[in-house]
Amino acid sequence: MTSIPFIDLKSQYAIIKDKVEAGIRRVLDHGQYILGPEVAECEKRLAAFAGSKHCLTVSSGTDALLAPLMALGVGAGDAVFVPTFTFTATAEVVVLAGAEPVYVDVHPRQFNIDLAHLRAEIDAVKKAGRLRPRAVIAVDLFGLAADYAALNTLCEAEGMTLIADAAQSIGGAVNNKRIGSLAPITATSFFPAKPLGCYGDGGAIFVDDDALLAKLVSIRVHGQGKSKYEVERVGLNARFDTLQAAVLMAKLDVFESELEKRQAVAEAYAAALDGAVETPQIPAGYRSAWAQYTILSDRRDAIAAALKEKGVPTAIYYPVPMHLQNAYRAYGKGEGSCPVSERLARRVLSLPMHPYLDPASIAHIAGIVRAASRS
Ligand SMILES: Cc1ncc(COP(=O)(O)O)c(C=O)c1O
Repeated sequence: MTSIPFIDLKSQYAIIKDKVEAGIRRVLDHGQYILGPEVAECEKRLAAFAGSKHCLTVSSGTDALLAPLMALGVGAGDAVFVPTFTFTATAEVVVLAGAEPVYVDVHPRQFNIDLAHLRAEIDAVKKAGRLRPRAVIAVDLFGLAADYAALNTLCEAEGMTLIADAAQSIGGAVNNKRIGSLAPITATSFFPAKPLGCYGDGGAIFVDDDALLAKLVSIRVHGQGKSKYEVERVGLNARFDTLQAAVLMAKLDVFESELEKRQAVAEAYAAALDGAVETPQIPAGYRSAWAQYTILSDRRDAIAAALKEKGVPTAIYYPVPMHLQNAYRAYGKGEGSCPVSERLARRVLSLPMHPYLDPASIAHIAGIVRAASRS
C-alpha cells in the first residue's frame, strides 16, 4: 500500500493546476497584488455560494473572528462565551479584544457548544455581575454546524451577538441553508488544510448588515476612513492577498464536487467502523463539510500507534481544551469544569480525510482501527 496522506492537496492540484496557474499568471500580468480585482470577484462568488448578502475576505480565520469583535466594540468588562473544545484562535481573539472568554462544554458526539451549559454560564455571569454577557462565538467543529436556530433565539433574547466560527465548516449546511447564512456574523478560514483552502493564510467574514460591513472594511485596512490617511478607528492590516484570491477561485470551481466526495468518504468510514469505535453523529437535516473525520475510543492511543506503525497519519484535535491551556486557564474554572470536553480530549482521533481518499485506503485504515480497538 502506498502511503496515505492525512489530507491530499497534491491530487487536488493535479485537477485544478491549469486554472490555478492561469489565475496566478493573470495577477502577475496586472500586478495589483494588494486588493486587486480578484479579491472583489472572489468575495462576490463566496457571498453567492454561502447565501449571504456580503462577504469580506481577510488575511486569516483569526482576523475574521477578531475584526467583528473590534467592530462591535467588544472589550473590557465583556464576557464572550466560547466552547472550550476548539482551536486556540476562538478564545485568543476574545482576549486580544480585551474581553474575557467564558468556557462552555460541548455535546459528547457532535462536539459543538452545549446549549444547556451555555444557558447556565450566562446565568452565572449575570448573577456574579462582574462581566456583561456580550457575545457567543459558536464553533462548527470538524465541519458540522452548531445549533444556530437555538443559538439565534438565545442570543436575541439576551441581547447578545452571535458569531459563527465556521473556520472548519464552509460548505456545510442545515436544511439546505449554507453556513455563512445561519448567524448574523460568520467567520471562516482558508488555511490550506481547510475544506476550502488557499495556498497560504486567508479568511472571510459573511454578514448581511451594511453598516457592520462598512466598519469591517475600515478595520481591514488600519481603520481607514473615507481617504487613505484618514483614520476612523483602531484597525488591522488584514487584507486577503490577490494571489490567494486567484487560487481560491480555482478551488471554488471544484468545491461542490469535493464536498460530495467528502460525504461519500464519511459514509464509507461510518459503515466500515460500525461497532468498533464511536463515529461522528450528524443530526437530521445537517450536512457536514467534513473538515475532519473524528472517531472516539477508550483505546485511542493504541489505535493511533497501530495506524502509525502501518504508515497511516492521524491527528488529535484537540488534546487540551482551552480552559486547561496555560495561556487561557486563568479565565476558567479548572479541571472538572467542562467534563465532556476533558473526556473528548482523551478519546478523540482524527483519521485521514480528503475528497480523494479511495475505497481501498478507507478499508485499509478501517481494518487497522478495528483490529487495534479489539486487542
Ligand atoms: C475553529 C477554528 N477557529 C479559528 C481558526 C483560525 O483560522 P486561521 O488559522 O486561518 O487563522 C481555525 C483554524 O486554524 C479553527 O480551526
